[in-house]
Amino acid sequence: MHTYHTPLDLVRERSPERPVALVRPDAVAVAARWFQDKFQGDVFYAVKANPSPWVIRTLAENGVNSFDVASIREVELVAEHAPGGRMAFMHPVKSRRAIERAYYDFGVKTFSFDTHEELAKILEATGGADDLSLIVRLAVATDGASYSLAGKFGAETHEAPSLLLAARRATQDRMGVSFHVGSQCMRPTAFQAAMAQASRAIVRAGVVVDVVDVGGGFPSVYPGMIPPDMSDYLDSVQRGFSEMMVTEGAELWCEPGRALVAEGTSMLTKVELKKGDALYLNDGSYGSLFDAAHVKWPFPVKLYRGAADAHEVAGPLKPFRFYGPTCDSLDHMPGPFWLPEDVREGDYVEIGMLGAYGVAMSTGFNGFGDAETVEVRDAPMASMFGLAGRSIRTPRDEQADDRKVVRLSRPKGAAGKKRRKR
Ligand SMILES: Cc1ncc(COP(=O)(O)O)c(C=O)c1O
Repeated sequence: MHTYHTPLDLVRERSPERPVALVRPDAVAVAARWFQDKFQGDVFYAVKANPSPWVIRTLAENGVNSFDVASIREVELVAEHAPGGRMAFMHPVKSRRAIERAYYDFGVKTFSFDTHEELAKILEATGGADDLSLIVRLAVATDGASYSLAGKFGAETHEAPSLLLAARRATQDRMGVSFHVGSQCMRPTAFQAAMAQASRAIVRAGVVVDVVDVGGGFPSVYPGMIPPDMSDYLDSVQRGFSEMMVTEGAELWCEPGRALVAEGTSMLTKVELKKGDALYLNDGSYGSLFDAAHVKWPFPVKLYRGAADAHEVAGPLKPFRFYGPTCDSLDHMPGPFWLPEDVREGDYVEIGMLGAYGVAMSTGFNGFGDAETVEVRDAPMASMFGLAGRSIRTPRDEQADDRKVVRLSRPKGAAGKKRRKR
């Protein structure tokens, strides 16, 4: 992989025609070491967040050598790029063939499920193996999350006890519970609340569990979404765990995706046309901007002018929206993306914090989506791990602050009158 000191160096040297994934392995390494040091249990990386080989290798080299996989392709990727890594197949719905291959060809022993039918499938596909770790996925409240994963998976309260009992009877080895509080969870206490919910299900079932897996949901930083400190999340998990009805030796697991990789990639895109407040870019919702289009997240941006006098462009900012390169009108990212108002065709927009669910979502629709990858050495645009500030402010935040200041500093308002009455 070619390395540049900064994205600007790349623009200066190459003026790339295709979108470029700017990867920062150091940022992934720092996040991995942070989780590995501070989380008092086992950290499984959720491969779906970014299955790039460099991510899997970097995580394994920095201590995160356990992986939450959801498909045979992910199993193969981990086997190839983190040989010897431990895997847990945590998709609650799997094909029989995928279970068979995972168990017999790759030695995967941990499987999750949220129905009796899936449990039966796992037992049949592994020939009634008695060395399985069986994890029951529970439905929990997801109202602290910016991207709720509720509805699709998870046994509901009334279904959980019989499933827990069935799992306990089916294995001589470990049995446990897992859940997902929803992605980009903005409320640390959501973990403690979910663990209390899981604990009630365990008590009702009257079983002993060996594993409590708190899933993913640990957040990153985006404009308008500045989470509390990451250690608040781990404190909440720790408090939740200490209050759970589990045996002394029970294991605590987590499955972060976003938090480990979001800071590790930004995209360098080219402006093909400017039409009013719309910029037509060479990457979009069928490339790495799925969340910007479909979840309408306003990712942070920087602007570079190419050619001979390449430089980062400053100046008064204006809100823009983006269109991607395909012919589909859904290929639209509303933003707002705050860029210098004289942005023009041929400029480069770097879109930050795209390491999670960015390149991972890319398709080849309409003949686009063919990005190259280079390594850069500068800091991400924001960081939960001290590599940059833990906030991304936009001019709109500043205007809102100014309005607050005006309101607070108005002395003749209601407060003044009240004081006189007394
Ligand atoms: C089972 C499971 N674990 C972990 C994750 C990772 O979640 P996040 O990226 O929010 O940390 C997901 C995401 O969909 C998931 O489905």
